Amino acid sequence: MEQQALPRHIAFIMDGNGRWAKKRGLPRTAGHRAGTQNVMKIVEHCGDLGIECVTFYAFSTENWSRPAAEVNALMSLLGEFLEKNLMRLHTNGVRIRILGEASPRFGEALTATLHSAVELTKNNTKMILNVALNYGGRAEIVRAFKAMHADAEAGKLDFDAVDEKTVQDYLYTAGCPEPDLLIRTSGEQRISNFLLYQLAYTEFVFTPVSWPDFTPERLDEALRDFASRSRRFGGLDKESKC
Ligand code: FPP
Repeated sequence: MEQQALPRHIAFIMDGNGRWAKKRGLPRTAGHRAGTQNVMKIVEHCGDLGIECVTFYAFSTENWSRPAAEVNALMSLLGEFLEKNLMRLHTNGVRIRILGEASPRFGEALTATLHSAVELTKNNTKMILNVALNYGGRAEIVRAFKAMHADAEAGKLDFDAVDEKTVQDYLYTAGCPEPDLLIRTSGEQRISNFLLYQLAYTEFVFTPVSWPDFTPERLDEALRDFASRSRRFGGLDKESKC
């Protein structure tokens, strides 16, 4: 694949775990387990391709409304994922970041695991792996406004000079290029409060395949689709300009 046709940043909405499990007569948590196992395959494929940044929507601020057993299973799976894969990710130069509000509801063990993953990998430069956890796009923007206000009050920010780049710098994704590509699995065609500011010019791929079945080959298909698109960022194609 041509280097310039590759996205620098891919964001994933990993949908369809529940339906994947239901089709097989399994509990929803089995779908989340299969979905979690799939994350590493996709991260490693992105690493092999030279993608700079990947962002996974693991748990939204709205997901707390799910049954407690499902919420607990998701938290455990995330902890297990990090415990199992942290050293491998670290050795491969992956920097792990958590996008979202820390919460006592994560529990002490997961909080400690998240903290050590972020700390251990903070100087890695090969790829950024963002995990959106207790994340909401609107909440992220509100938080950025509040942080800018506080910095302005403290004399650290000239509010009149605030521009779009300043806002980007106050988002959880600061330091990552905006996503070039968003992939949502399982047929739904919405963004569900994900990266609202950052997705302004992102290309979307919606695939009917459920997340546990979203293989590296399916990712390659999405990348070919991405490469075939003409991104104009509100301007015109070269051919249309004459
Ligand atoms: C959506 O499927 C999936 C989620 C709400 C959770 C995704 C989280 C993981 C796979 C945990 C691990 C994540 C990482 C980054 C290690 P759904 O339950 O809404 O599916 P349905 O729409 O078919 O019911």
